[in-house]
Amino acid sequence: MRFLLFAPSFLPSLVSAVTISAINGPAFRSPYENQSVTNVTGLVTAVGPSGFFLRDTTPDRDVRTSNSVYVFTTSATIRGSVAAGDIVTIDGKVSEYRSSKDYLYLTEITSPTNVRKISSGNAVKPVVLGVDRSPPAYRYSALDDNDVFGVPNNRTLVSVVNATLQQDKYGLDFWESLSGELVSVKTPVALSMPNNYGDVWVRGSYRVTGKNSRGGLTIVPGIGADANPEAILIGDPLDGTDNAATKLGDDLGDITGVITYAFGFYRILPLTALSVKSNALPLLPPPTTLTSTGACSGLTFGSYNVENLTPNSTHLPLVAEHIATYLNTPDFVFLQEVQDNDGATNSTVVSANITLQTLADAIEAISGVEYSYLTIDPVDDKDGGQPGGNIRVAYFYKHDLFSLRNPNPGSGSEKIEVLPGGELNFNPGRIDPENEAWTNSRKPLVAAFDTVGGETVYAINVHFGSKGGSSSLYGDARPPVNGGVDDRQKQAELVAGFIQELQAENEGALVVAAGDFNEFSYVSPMKAFKDIAWDLDEVVSIPVEERYTYLYDMNCQQLDHMLVSRPLKKGAKYEHVHINTWNTKAAQVSDHDPSVAILNTCKR
Ligand SMILES: *[C@@H]1O[C@H](CO)[C@@H](O)[C@H](O)[C@H]1NC(C)=O
Ligand SMILES: *[C@@H]1O[C@H](CO)[C@@H](O)[C@H](O)[C@H]1NC(C)=O
Ligand SMILES: *[C@@H]1O[C@H](CO)[C@@H](O)[C@H](O)[C@H]1NC(C)=O
Ligand SMILES: *[C@@H]1O[C@H](CO)[C@@H](O)[C@H](O)[C@H]1NC(C)=O
Ligand SMILES: *[C@@H]1O[C@H](CO)[C@@H](O)[C@H](O)[C@H]1NC(C)=O
Ligand SMILES: *[C@@H]1O[C@H](CO)[C@@H](O)[C@H](O)[C@H]1NC(C)=O
Ligand SMILES: *[C@@H]1O[C@H](CO)[C@@H](O)[C@H](O)[C@H]1NC(C)=O
Repeated sequence: MRFLLFAPSFLPSLVSAVTISAINGPAFRSPYENQSVTNVTGLVTAVGPSGFFLRDTTPDRDVRTSNSVYVFTTSATIRGSVAAGDIVTIDGKVSEYRSSKDYLYLTEITSPTNVRKISSGNAVKPVVLGVDRSPPAYRYSALDDNDVFGVPNNRTLVSVVNATLQQDKYGLDFWESLSGELVSVKTPVALSMPNNYGDVWVRGSYRVTGKNSRGGLTIVPGIGADANPEAILIGDPLDGTDNAATKLGDDLGDITGVITYAFGFYRILPLTALSVKSNALPLLPPPTTLTSTGACSGLTFGSYNVENLTPNSTHLPLVAEHIATYLNTPDFVFLQEVQDNDGATNSTVVSANITLQTLADAIEAISGVEYSYLTIDPVDDKDGGQPGGNIRVAYFYKHDLFSLRNPNPGSGSEKIEVLPGGELNFNPGRIDPENEAWTNSRKPLVAAFDTVGGETVYAINVHFGSKGGSSSLYGDARPPVNGGVDDRQKQAELVAGFIQELQAENEGALVVAAGDFNEFSYVSPMKAFKDIAWDLDEVVSIPVEERYTYLYDMNCQQLDHMLVSRPLKKGAKYEHVHINTWNTKAAQVSDHDPSVAILNTCKR
């Protein structure tokens, strides 16, 4: 008896008959990591191109420990010898696998041998999401300290802390507690277009938060910010078919598939391709309802990131159509991401006059509206973006309503300063272009215009540093890395500081700061504007779910903002026109939606 009890301890890396639940354990990493296991018995729930999925035939009652596991094998013979509905016993090695150190580990059994079929033709029933189990809707991880966009980020790693799962509270923990499991998602709704690999984000018939009127999920203020861990990615179908091309808000056919983790995300590998039942309607949004009064009582201001626009861009005529039709030719337009005349070619060309004139001509051909334009060429190759493209911000304006006040343009490297009374040393000019905060980034363009009502309007057009280098919301770093957030913090402080200087010299200055801030309202950089300039979404009370201009991964989100000084709040109206986020990927004209406001700029 004694001998039998202690015998296994002489074989440290060989563990006898363990259950799949025990292999998974209650945490992110398996208690059996790197150990050999024998006599693991389970029901085959699905077979894929590089392995199969096994469910415990003697499941435990601990909801934290997944009852299923992925068995990875390169052997086509082994894969061909098992089918869904078989009960098999296998030997193998428990491994934790990830293809990048920024991802989470997937617990799997590798190198299965000795595959013994016990029976076949057994019923295989999926766990139904929304019935048997439902994901939490607010938080990703306890390690985010209640703010998934908190700074500093990457304070801890999930793989190192290896916490015990709290699947009722945290999205990562929830999906981990179902790792390897066969699940069904009933009446799913598409939250995205397909990504470059054909994967699509969905939500199912369970409680969600942040749902917008299109059916997507928006990042909304919540605990920190609510970035929707209830969304799940649908990856490559196990049968080798291709997922349908979805659009935001489309109704999809029911999905059954296995939960795994790969390339930074928990995902369901469906048994077969997901299908679109019906498209979200209308296919495209209506044009803005905002119409200029042609007087100071109601001037319209648009803003649009036109995604690497060149004179030859195939999307240039469509950008023109958006400005003419969907934005109703605003009196004044803030443009971002305009490239120089030879686009992303590494030359000495920095002028964008042909790009801008081509766009102006295209708008005039559609609408009859003649725009003047204004920009400052950057110093060659100093403002980031596509190499050689020299992207910059620019203004379009109707010259009968706006005239540049005392024109005196600064160069790409000259710093704009506020003079007594609110005059500017340069007009237009760029904010502190030599400051290291703008290294490889677009400098904000300030311009003062005398307007039709006799008042001066100061425009500040921004395109802050990008979120490149961010880690996945479902990744190892917690809170996730928000790429470039430190730069955006300094950039926001410089712009907010400039507005304060203007206000110090000209209390009641009419200021409109708009563009691609590359940041959400709920994250630190945007807080630099508190009590200095007011976010029009807040001013006009757009419901938080409808505040989006961009679709990234599972989330509708707002990178583009329009901020105004206090006197411009009264009577303001503002709309986001979802002409790109609602579209098909193929028909998207820019990756951003444009926005348009109407403001009363009359003398107070
Ligand atoms: C594994 O199962 C076989 C056949 O049922 C049995 O003979 C053997 O003792 C088991 N091994 C362990 C380590 O449990
Ligand atoms: C992870 O947690 C499990 C369960 O608490 C534990 O058995 C295992 O040893 C841990 N692994 C690592 C690498 O920390
Ligand atoms: C498992 O093996 C890998 C590769 O040798 C190693 O990096 C890892 O630390 C091991 N895990 C444990 C828990 O020992
Ligand atoms: C744009 O097209 C013109 C005429 O076809 C060509 O000369 C020029 O090189 C093109 N420019 C770019 C940036 O592709
Ligand atoms: C662009 O051309 C300049 C001058 O020939 C060169 O110094 C620079 O490295 C080039 N930049 C890129 C991104 O190729
Ligand atoms: C662009 O600027 C150059 C140099 O000033 C000028 O020769 C050319 O006519 C301009 N083109 C347009 C379309 O304005
Ligand atoms: C997060 O920090 C760790 C060091 O703790 C580092 O190895 C890792 O690369 C960082 N992750 C990202 C995405 O930058």
